[in-house]
Amino acid sequence: MSTFSRRSIRYLGVALLVLLLAVLAGCTPEHSQSTFDTSGPVAESQLLLFYWIFWAALFVFVVVVGALLYIVIRYRRRPGSADPPQIHGHTRLEIGWTILPAVVLAVVAVPTVKTIFYNAQHFPNAMTVDVVAHQWWWEFHYVHPEDPDRKVVTANELHIPVGEVVNVTLDSKDVLHSFWIPKLAGKVDLVPNNLNTMWIQADELGEYRGQCAEFCGVAHANMRFRVIAESKPDFDAWLAGQARPASEPVDPLALEGRDLFVGRALCNSCHTLAGERRARGTKGPNLTHLASRRHIAAGLLENTQANLRRWLEDPDAVKPGNIMAEEALIYTEPARRLTEPEISALVSYLQTLK
Ligand code: CUA
Repeated sequence: MSTFSRRSIRYLGVALLVLLLAVLAGCTPEHSQSTFDTSGPVAESQLLLFYWIFWAALFVFVVVVGALLYIVIRYRRRPGSADPPQIHGHTRLEIGWTILPAVVLAVVAVPTVKTIFYNAQHFPNAMTVDVVAHQWWWEFHYVHPEDPDRKVVTANELHIPVGEVVNVTLDSKDVLHSFWIPKLAGKVDLVPNNLNTMWIQADELGEYRGQCAEFCGVAHANMRFRVIAESKPDFDAWLAGQARPASEPVDPLALEGRDLFVGRALCNSCHTLAGERRARGTKGPNLTHLASRRHIAAGLLENTQANLRRWLEDPDAVKPGNIMAEEALIYTEPARRLTEPEISALVSYLQTLK
C-alpha cells in the first residue's frame, strides 16, 4: 500500500470520528430540545420506552451479529476442505426462530401499547387547551375564566400551571403539522378536520421550547413556540389578564399607531384585538396582548422594540415565506409601504398591548 493511500485512510478515519462525535453531541441532555432530560410524566414514559426498545434492539443486534461472525469465522472455507454435509429442514431450529422473534415482539409491543394508552388519557377534571396550527404559527384557546362558553385566544406562548395535568386538543387550519415539546411530550400530529388529543404536565417551573415537527412548508423550521410553566396563582393572573380586552392607548404616537392598525395598514383584516370591533381578523395571530409575550414571529425574536421594528420593516427577512410578507398589501404593493414614522407609530401601539 502506498503512503498516500494509507494517509488518506487515516484522514477518513479522523473525519468519521469527528462526524460520530458531532452526531453524538445531539444526545446531550442539556440542549433545550433534547428528549433525554425530561420534565414531565408524558415525556418520561416515552423516554423509558425508548430505552427499553433500545436495549432490546441492542440485545438482538449482539446475538445476531455475534452468531453471524462466529459462524463466518469458524466455518470459513479452508484450503483443501471438502463441502460440508448438505441439510434441508430442521424442525427444532425452525420452531426456535419462529418463537424467538415472537418473544422479542412481545417484549417491545407490551410496553409500547401500555405507553400509548397512558399518553392517550383524557382527564375530565383537568384544564383543556385547544391548539390550532397555522402556517407557520400556533394558536392557543383557553376556556374563559369567567364564562365557560367563551374562549381566550393567544398565540405562540402556551402558559400552563406547573405540576398539573393539562388536556390538549390538536387541530390544523391548513396542512399537517406536529406538536412537539421535547422535554414535556413527544410529537402528535395536527390534522385538518381530525381532532387529535394528548395531555401534558410540566413538573418544574420554567420555559420549555416547542417546535413543529412535521414538514409543513417553507417556514416549517421557524414554526416554534414556548411553553411557560408557572405557579397556579401566576397562571391564574396571566389568564385573567389575557381575558381582558385590548388596552386603550393614551400616548399620541400609540393612538396614531392604532389608527394605522385599523386603517391604512389594514392589520385588522388579519389580526384580532379583543374588544375592538374593527379588528376581528383571524388569519394571523390574535394580538390583543402581544406585549405580554416574550417572543414574536412564532418564537423567533425576543419581543423588544428593536425586533418589532425589524419585523414590521421586513418580515420576509426575519421569517422567509411568512404569509404576512406574502399577502399584506403594505408589503406587496410598493405604493402602500409603511413609512419609517408609521412603523414607529405601530410599534409604539403594539407595545401598549400588555
Ligand atoms: Cu408546521 Cu411544520
